[in-house]
Amino acid sequence: MDTIMGRAANQTQLDKVIEEAARILTNGGLVAFPTETVYGLGANARNKDAAKKIYEAKGRPSDNPLILHICSYDMLDEVADEIPPAAKALADRFWPGPLTLIMNKSDRVPLEVTGGLSTVGVRFPGHKIALELIRRSKVPVAAPSANVSGRPSPTRASHVEYDLSGKIDMIIDGGSCGIGIESTIVDTTGGSPVVLRPGSITEKEIAETAGCLLGGQNPDAAPKAPGTMYKHYSPEAKITIVKGGGTQTAGKINSLIAEAEKQGKKAGVLVTEEYRALYNKGTVITLGSMSDLSRTAAHLYKALRELDFNGLDIVYCTAFPEDGLGVAIMNRLIRAAENRIIDLRGEK
Ligand code: TXA
Ligand code: MG
Repeated sequence: MDTIMGRAANQTQLDKVIEEAARILTNGGLVAFPTETVYGLGANARNKDAAKKIYEAKGRPSDNPLILHICSYDMLDEVADEIPPAAKALADRFWPGPLTLIMNKSDRVPLEVTGGLSTVGVRFPGHKIALELIRRSKVPVAAPSANVSGRPSPTRASHVEYDLSGKIDMIIDGGSCGIGIESTIVDTTGGSPVVLRPGSITEKEIAETAGCLLGGQNPDAAPKAPGTMYKHYSPEAKITIVKGGGTQTAGKINSLIAEAEKQGKKAGVLVTEEYRALYNKGTVITLGSMSDLSRTAAHLYKALRELDFNGLDIVYCTAFPEDGLGVAIMNRLIRAAENRIIDLRGEK
């Protein structure tokens, strides 16, 4: 299949691109589109055969549910059975925006879309192109991140092209995604809402609005987002996170890189601008700044993809304080590192 690259230099062209994309969605095809978090791979959520194509294109396990994207509260009424008070409070404050709410699904949502679950994840995105695409398609749009399953989420059209060209009908190029990490997911189906995936809307903001349990605190009680069980956000390179003070971490990483190079491996480091000067071995890739975590989040997946473009086998990565947006950044890094962490704190 030839994948159409929908690019526009002005508003008239963009209208045409979105019109064509909406037609493809209505007819059961797949369109990748930008949102403020990451690019999504969209299909008509009322059409189970279209939804199945998403799983095939991504190589996604069929029990991993899709998020439905809406552009109005009428669409919310179509897909959700009822709207719990916590969901209403969160939607009032954060929609349109980078927040996904899990609610009980209505009968109109096919089980093929929810991986067989009786609940559904719903997001009202704030990105203009995403909203216009849903409006013109006139259907809720099922859309996971537009990457091959297991790879870092795409934050530019070129990332989608690299992963899915030839497997989907169209990509709308809307430039880079402003936030760069996926939406915060909150399960509102239980007594107290639970954060299933941290994002740019912080757990503190969610708790202030809805009063909630934090996902990590009670693993037995917290229902997980199925997708968070799978290997994820992972480049080919084997990543290890190193936690510790600036100079201590740099000393350790420089010597680990020297060791890896002796064994004939191509090694590198992901480090923030503040500590860049301490690194003198291997390929050094900067990952934003400690003092501007929004910018760091926006560039995170691009940096993870760069590891592979550089052909790195082994990568060491410095850590971020797990506070505010740092929680979501570390959540993605730890999963990209498949839990490999060296903790130097407490060592002399
Ligand atoms: O920012 C985002 O959320 C992006 C953009 C495109 O909207 N989408 C995204 O989708 O990240 P995806 O499929 O890559 O991640 C959705 C996560 C998965 O871990 C999935 O298991 C979980 O949400 N999820 C979806 N529906 C769920 C449900 N009913 N119950 C629990 N978890 C659910
Ligand atoms: Mg994903």
